[in-house]
Amino acid sequence: MINIAIIGFGVVGSASYDLTIRNAGLIEKKVGDTVKVKKIVDIRDFDDHPARELLTKNFDDVVKDPEISIAIESIGGLRPAFDFTKALLMSGKSVVTSNKELVATHGLELLEIAERNNVSYLFEASVGGGIPIIRPIKQCLAANEFEEVFGILNGTTNYILTKMREEGLPFAEALKDAQEKGYAELNPAADIDGYDTCRKLSILSWTTFGKFVDVENIDRKGIGDITAEDIEKAKAAGRVIKLIGRAKLTDGEVRCTVAPEVIPLGDPLAMVDGVYNAVVVRGNFIGDAMFYGQGAGGEATASAVMSDVIEISRNMVASRGRV
Ligand code: HSE
Repeated sequence: MINIAIIGFGVVGSASYDLTIRNAGLIEKKVGDTVKVKKIVDIRDFDDHPARELLTKNFDDVVKDPEISIAIESIGGLRPAFDFTKALLMSGKSVVTSNKELVATHGLELLEIAERNNVSYLFEASVGGGIPIIRPIKQCLAANEFEEVFGILNGTTNYILTKMREEGLPFAEALKDAQEKGYAELNPAADIDGYDTCRKLSILSWTTFGKFVDVENIDRKGIGDITAEDIEKAKAAGRVIKLIGRAKLTDGEVRCTVAPEVIPLGDPLAMVDGVYNAVVVRGNFIGDAMFYGQGAGGEATASAVMSDVIEISRNMVASRGRV
C-alpha cells in the first residue's frame, strides 16, 4: 500500500481525495499497488465529510508519519506552503502540488531539496489546471529546440472575457460567477491583473527553455481596463480579446510578456473560451503543438495532481524490484 496525505482540503485537495476514491480500482491497476489517503491536514472543521476521520489540524501528524510517502500540497500561497513543503521533502516524502505561486517563487530551491533527499517534487497541476503540459514539454517534446511558448493560462480571466463577449455580462457579475465556480484566486487581483498568468508563464519558461524568469521581470498588463466597448469593437472587426502569456527565446535570452491581445477569429486561440486554457509550444521539429483543456476547477486540477501521484507511485513500485 502507498499512503498519501493531502495538505489543504479546499477545492483542489477535496477533488483529489474524491478522485482517489472514485478511481481507486484503476489507480491500483496502473500503479500495481493500492494508493490510499491516510491523512488530510486542514485547520477548518469538516465534521460532515465522509473523510472526517482522516482529518487533522496538526501538520506533524503527516511529517512524522513514516508510512506516508507522498503528500499533495494544495494549500496555495507561499506561507505556510513553503515551510511545509521543505519539511516534507527533508523527511523523505515526495510532494505534488498545484501551487503555482510557490513553484514560480521557490521551485528551483525545492527541486534541489527534493534531489538531495532522493524524492520528487512534481507540479503538473501548477500550469493549465488539468491540461498535461509540464510532462509533455519535458518528455514527449524533449527532442526539439524550442522557440516560443504562449497561450491562455488563466481560466478566470478567460471566463470573464467570454461571458462579457457572449452574454454582455458586466465585468463584476462575470467575476462573481467565476468565483462561485471555484476558478478564481482568493484575491481576484491575482487573476485580473495578470499575476497568476505571470506565475504560470515563469514555470512554463523554466520548463521549456531551462531559464528561470522572475515573475517581477515579466512585462504585465491585466484585463482590468478592458471595457464592453473594446470587446464590441474587436467583435465587429472579427476579432476577440484574450489575455496571453508569451515566452520567446531570442539570441539566447527569454523575454516574457503577459497582456491582452486582439486575436483574429481564425486563430486556434480565439476558439478557447470559458474556463478553458490552451498552451502552444513551438519547437524546431514539431512546429506548433497546442494543448487544450480545462485550466481551472477542482476536478480538472485533481486529474493533473493525481497523475503526478501515480507517476511517483509507479516509480516506487518499480524500484522495489530493483532493491
Ligand atoms: N485562478 C486560476 C485560474 C486557477 O483562473 O486559472 C487555476 O490556476
